[in-house]
Amino acid sequence: MKLMPVVVSIILVLGTLIVAVENCIAAEEEINCIKCHRRVTPGHVTDWETSTHAEIGVDCSVCHGTEHQSVKNANLAVMPDESVCGDCHYDQFEQFQKGKHNHGWKSMNAMPVTHLEPDELMEGGRGCGGCHNMGVKTDSEKQALSEKGYRYQNNSCDECHTRHTFAKSEAQDPRACQQCHMGYDHPQWEMWSSAKHGTRWFAKEQGRLPENATAPTCQDCHLPNGTHTNRTAWGFFGVRLPMPEDKQWAEDRTTILKALGVLNPKTGEPTKRLEVIKELDMARLTEEDWQNERNKMIKTCGQCHSKTYGATQLKMGDDLLQKADRLMAKAINIVAALYADGIIKKPAEYEYAYPDFMYFLRTNGKSLDHMSHIDQVLFQMYMKHRMRTYQGCFHVNPDYAYWYGWAMMTKDLGEIEELADTLRKLHAKKESK
Ligand code: HEC
Ligand code: HEC
Ligand code: HEC
Ligand code: HEC
Ligand code: HEC
Ligand code: HEC
Ligand code: HEC
Ligand code: HEC
Repeated sequence: MKLMPVVVSIILVLGTLIVAVENCIAAEEEINCIKCHRRVTPGHVTDWETSTHAEIGVDCSVCHGTEHQSVKNANLAVMPDESVCGDCHYDQFEQFQKGKHNHGWKSMNAMPVTHLEPDELMEGGRGCGGCHNMGVKTDSEKQALSEKGYRYQNNSCDECHTRHTFAKSEAQDPRACQQCHMGYDHPQWEMWSSAKHGTRWFAKEQGRLPENATAPTCQDCHLPNGTHTNRTAWGFFGVRLPMPEDKQWAEDRTTILKALGVLNPKTGEPTKRLEVIKELDMARLTEEDWQNERNKMIKTCGQCHSKTYGATQLKMGDDLLQKADRLMAKAINIVAALYADGIIKKPAEYEYAYPDFMYFLRTNGKSLDHMSHIDQVLFQMYMKHRMRTYQGCFHVNPDYAYWYGWAMMTKDLGEIEELADTLRKLHAKKESK
């Protein structure tokens, strides 16, 4: 009977020893990662050392695995996706998955133009794919990437908290949004930073305004209270359902939806693309859904302004969008008539003899030899100038809303009228020969 405690003790000691050896190996591996990487990639190691992760022992191998241990097998290092972060940051991962950022990769790939452009700009991340690599990828999406020879860009979380510092404070800085929310079709950075809200933020940063002066950042309005779910009422395309009660606006939006390929230009029936719009949440599909987002925003304005003030400002954005849609639809109808009259030929890839915005500036589908210039002016009117008109209004930037937006739309319309005239005359001349 006295033997039992001895056996138990031996087992316990052995067990402890095994655990100790295992710990030792684990620690050794970790030291190896850091020891070797201090030479191989010193910058990454110093960045990691400044992070909260280093303080609490979230080491290289927690995210990259332990398979790769030597110079020869770096290919075995795991490139961690969002679910690895999600193992410990469950709330942020869940919130992120409910927001618009989670659709970035899919919405890019839903555009026909994407598959015609160089891979370096898409899968390689130096163009559209550099901003649209947001979103949890499915296994088949990952496989498609790896088959094309692309190994990186598996993680969305490092877009605002860059690796390997992974800092909260960096993501709270509006400049964390700048790389993507700038430029041609969504210059929110330029609009915010040069308007009063942004100007106040910079003044604060330089100590010209007191620390507790108010100055709303992108995050305050779009990721309030630390949420990782982002979504707006109008969204990017500036369309929604149901159709407006105003007859003219309803007609104009129908025209725009045809040029987006969401409605069949002949019958007005929904096309396959409406499914994509729904699946990727590209537009609010009910009045309630739209109003819900709007109410949240009015509440945010209400942190500083009166509710009436906020609501009035936003309503102006809606009204301006209606007027912009009038110009837009006029222009689309002019170009559509050229297709209808056979003056512009339907490109092989286009579903219909009608302008198709989803080919972006490739206004003759695959062929780079015969762009339709008038279609390009039309696309620019939509993607650059209509965007700036209403985005500028919502971001309280007078210059963007007028000169870069509305004024340019009127210029585009004039150009389209002139070009259509010329095209018709040329066509008539050819016909009479
Ligand atoms: C003996 C040196 C050595 C050790 C130990 C080591 N690495 Fe590496 N690691 C390298 C080298 C060399 C590369 C390749 C660098 C290059 O491509 O220029 C690399 C690459 C990597 C990469 C990038 C892979 C890629 O495809 O770009 C990661 C991530 C990585 N190591 C993580 C780790 C982790 C985690 C450990 C510990 C479990 C570790 N390393 C241990 C030398 C080492
Ligand atoms: C909290 C998770 C996390 C930790 C901890 C971590 N990494 Fe990374 N690392 C990432 C992510 C995310 C990427 C980008 C993956 C991608 O592009 O698909 C990455 C990419 C890399 C790369 C390849 C890309 C490049 O810029 O060269 C190297 C090398 C690397 N890590 C080394 C290390 C080393 C060394 C350590 C420890 C000092 C470490 N990592 C710790 C998450 C982590
Ligand atoms: C093994 C668990 C674990 C993993 C995996 C992990 N983290 Fe963390 N992380 C923590 C803990 C614990 C903290 C400190 C507490 C907190 O802020 O939640 C932290 C802190 C953070 C912070 C706040 C840092 C600050 O400045 O206050 C960010 C941002 C962060 N992690 C991002 C990431 C990202 C992105 C990934 C994936 C690439 C990741 N983490 C993977 C455990 C983890
Ligand atoms: C500079 C970064 C950047 C580049 C480059 C870029 N995008 Fe975007 N894209 C964005 C941002 C940011 C948004 C959201 C803008 C907004 O809502 O105002 C967006 C929105 C979109 C949307 C609408 C998504 C939705 O749900 O409403 C589509 C589709 C899209 N982009 C496709 C593309 C394609 C295709 C390319 C390349 C031909 C491209 N983008 C290039 C950053 C970029
Ligand atoms: C669009 C930018 C953006 C992206 C993408 C992003 N974050 Fe954040 N994250 C933020 C902001 C902003 C904060 C600061 C919130 C606040 O002020 O409380 C933050 C804070 C955090 C914190 C610290 C929470 C706390 O209060 O201590 C963690 C952890 C974190 N994020 C994890 C993640 C993970 C995991 C992902 C990917 C699923 C991710 N983030 C993607 C913007 C982002
Ligand atoms: C004072 C609040 C506020 C600030 C600050 C702010 N926005 Fe906005 N943002 C709005 C409003 C309001 C809308 C329109 C919402 C709607 O559709 O009703 C909007 C819309 C957007 C959209 C959708 C397309 C559009 O422009 O209409 C994106 C993307 C966006 N903002 C990004 C940003 C970024 C990035 C920053 C910082 C550089 C920023 N916003 C700063 C209030 C703000
Ligand atoms: C790596 C690029 C990138 C960064 C960084 C980024 N975004 Fe985005 N953002 C996008 C893309 C791409 C979309 C469009 C996603 C889609 O396809 O639906 C988007 C969409 C949005 C939308 C939704 C607009 C709508 O359609 O309703 C808002 C709001 C937004 N971002 C705010 C922010 C804020 C605030 C930050 C900084 C804290 C930020 N983003 C950082 C790329 C980025
Ligand atoms: C965190 C506080 C804060 C929030 C939130 C905020 N603002 Fe402001 N806003 C300011 C301050 C401060 C000014 C500059 C005051 C001035 O011009 O005298 C300003 C200026 C403005 C102006 C320009 C006023 C003028 O006379 O030129 C408009 C318009 C505006 N805000 C609209 C909005 C809208 C719409 C929202 C919500 C989408 C909003 N603001 C959210 C603080 C805020």
